[in-house]
Amino acid sequence: MENDLSNYRKSYEKGALLKSNVPENPLELFQKWFYEVDNAEGVDEANAMTISTMGLDGYPKSRVVLLKKYTYEGFIFYTNYNSEKGKAILHNPNVCLSFFWHAAERQIIIKGKAEKIAANLSDGYFESRPRGSQLSALVSNQSEEVADRSELENKLKRLEQEHEGKEVERPEHWGGFIVKPVEIEFWQGRANRLHDRIRYQLDDEYNWKITRLAP
Ligand SMILES: Cc1cc2nc3c(=O)[nH]c(=O)nc-3n(C[C@H](O)[C@H](O)[C@H](O)COP(=O)(O)O)c2cc1C
Repeated sequence: MENDLSNYRKSYEKGALLKSNVPENPLELFQKWFYEVDNAEGVDEANAMTISTMGLDGYPKSRVVLLKKYTYEGFIFYTNYNSEKGKAILHNPNVCLSFFWHAAERQIIIKGKAEKIAANLSDGYFESRPRGSQLSALVSNQSEEVADRSELENKLKRLEQEHEGKEVERPEHWGGFIVKPVEIEFWQGRANRLHDRIRYQLDDEYNWKITRLAP
């Protein structure tokens, strides 16, 4: 099979990013970009982000998760702590998050350290989830092999019966991670491939150093 994609070419012309205009704190720029993208037409799930981890097998692995909260401290998502990514993070907390917002011709790349959030915060979010999602957190031993789909469906039915009329409690192995950033790069596509790249790096005194990078 061969599919030559060398003619795929697009000019990026929707925005610009100047070092003189950016805020001192990258979380503020993240918030500005997120609002703009989230309110733009044609953008679905602006909070979908790719998280890359260093696996126990020595390979990096990337997959999409949903950003559920961000603050000056970092970026929070929820998952199964026993999943492949969960185990990878507990082994090596250095991760990379990335967003590609096609409609806005923007990319954000975040290097940071992931850690579990406090159990009561995970409880609060778990309680806010629809019942079906709560039960599926109990059903799925995320990343483990399953014989077939019916195994999962039967387990779901059994758990639905067991929990009839009862609250579903958060399983201990399910909860949030916060990624505390050490570096954030903002990429804005520009014409003629002269894209804008502004990088923030956290120094030892917790100040953000801002630099422009060549595209
Ligand atoms: C749009 C989208 C959103 C997702 N959101 C989550 C999420 O918030 N948490 C999660 O654990 N998995 C989420 N997933 C599934 C993950 O991509 C992945 O399949 C799963 O977490 C298992 O990954 P792992 O085996 O590498 O740990 C999402 C997938 C997609 C495509």
